[in-house]
Amino acid sequence: MHPLMETVTERIVRLKKERNAIILAHNYTNPEIQDIADFTGDSLGLSIQASKTDADVIVFCGVTFMGETAKILSPDKIVLLPRPDAVCDMAAMCSPEALAQRRKELPDHTVVGYVNTTGPTKTQMDVCCTSGNALKVVRSLDSDKVLFVPDKNLGSYIARLVPEKEIVLWNGCCPIHDSITLEEVSELKRRYPDAYCMAHPECNEAILSVMDFVGSTEAMLNHCKTMDNEEYIIVTEVGMKHRLETSCPGKRFHFPESAVCEPMKYITLESIADCLENLTGQIVLDDDIIRDAFLPVKRMIEIN
Ligand code: 13P
Ligand code: SF4
Repeated sequence: MHPLMETVTERIVRLKKERNAIILAHNYTNPEIQDIADFTGDSLGLSIQASKTDADVIVFCGVTFMGETAKILSPDKIVLLPRPDAVCDMAAMCSPEALAQRRKELPDHTVVGYVNTTGPTKTQMDVCCTSGNALKVVRSLDSDKVLFVPDKNLGSYIARLVPEKEIVLWNGCCPIHDSITLEEVSELKRRYPDAYCMAHPECNEAILSVMDFVGSTEAMLNHCKTMDNEEYIIVTEVGMKHRLETSCPGKRFHFPESAVCEPMKYITLESIADCLENLTGQIVLDDDIIRDAFLPVKRMIEIN
């Protein structure tokens, strides 16, 4: 077919083949992005896919730290961000310089860093984690002194589950999850009194304390598959609704409407086709950053 007659979907399919590319999409992206992706999942699942793919090009439909993590794991591959301006606000809350300084102040503490950080910040960590394996990572450490960065909500959730360790927190958070209020959640509970309630651990303690289940986006989905309930309140970003509805047909999901991560919504089918055609939005990281960030990220993948 002449390229001018192609739909955007046909263009993506053709370019993917020509480039030997794979499309990875986070659970928060728009429905049409999830539908065209080869793999949709949480940060941990996407990192694992990025580490084991034999594609030459990885198109990462997510925020920049996710693409950087893929590049750290697969430095010889071309990693493309359809929208390089899709930045996670939390990742900007912990600079490598500030973390290097804090490490000096706490030399006996093992630095556990959430994957929602930049590549340079990851060079200052002992081990990286996602919301999907943070508990396992912290429990696996020999050390009983931990500096957990940057998400204070995820960190304090883990600290409540692992009281035998001293966990020092950083003052960072996801502005979207952190600003979901108990009032919003209580209103949803009033409207759907029989709903089973699940939340992402980036939410604050007041919300987590009234949930039936807390976990990463993928953990919530997997848990939902095992449940008989028909109605669910899901306290995380609204993009997850599509993933849940397509994976659990017949079940109903209710979200706090304010929970929208705008950068995730920047990504369109056109932006995927354009980056594949022109190889734009390539992740470029210095070799020494890739070298120093690799070990903590590799540990994150291994503790799974
Ligand atoms: P997941 O680890 O569940 O993918 O969450 C990532 C994230 O950015 C949540 O806001
Ligand atoms: Fe970052 Fe929050 Fe968006 Fe997740 S939802 S990518 S933590 S800003």
